[in-house]
Amino acid sequence: MVLDTIRNRRTIREFTDAPIPNTTLEQALEAATWAPNHRNAEPWRFIVLSKDGEMREKIAKIVHNWTYENAKNPNEESRVASANDTQREILDAPAFIYVYSVQGRNEGATKENYAATACAVQNLMLAAHSMGIGVGWSTGRPCLAPIDTTIGAEPDWDIVGALYIGYPSETRDRRSEAKRIPVNDVTIWS
Ligand SMILES: Cc1cc2nc3c(=O)[nH]c(=O)nc-3n(C[C@H](O)[C@H](O)[C@H](O)COP(=O)(O)O)c2cc1C
Repeated sequence: MVLDTIRNRRTIREFTDAPIPNTTLEQALEAATWAPNHRNAEPWRFIVLSKDGEMREKIAKIVHNWTYENAKNPNEESRVASANDTQREILDAPAFIYVYSVQGRNEGATKENYAATACAVQNLMLAAHSMGIGVGWSTGRPCLAPIDTTIGAEPDWDIVGALYIGYPSETRDRRSEAKRIPVNDVTIWS
């Protein structure tokens, strides 16, 4: 039931080593493309960095260097550790996908495209969850580092996120820990 899938999906960043077959990734990506999108722009673009592939290595290194250079903590040991951890997390993820949104013909359409692409990511995450696969959506280091040219994104694409994907290794069931503000606190009924 879709309501259960929505309610029980959680951000996942710890995975087993089990690989995710490309056919499974394709199913999740296909689900992504069924997201609503204004004027049928289909504005999403996906870049899949295969496990152990050359591009994954290159991107992980760029993000490593960026993390080291931009660490808030000036302590050398901590900068090295956080750069290494970030690199390792990218290399270890069974699947790793960048998501971009293309420009529209004006500012409003570009904003709609971004919104549609965010819906596509949610579709992907729900599809993955229904197949027992976890996803962690990040707009942090993997997106802040200067990866766009290397990865082959067009200069005018907007980055929407980097997705860490794999079979969850967490033994803790975090479903009951997840909290949301009661709906009536964020809704005006008029
Ligand atoms: C646009 C967007 C960007 C996010 N970026 C990050 C991120 O950079 N790092 C991170 O740890 N989580 C990130 N998250 C995941 C959120 O922290 C997570 O969705 C939130 O804690 C709620 O948990 P849940 O997804 O399990 O419901 C992002 C989520 C969204 C929607």
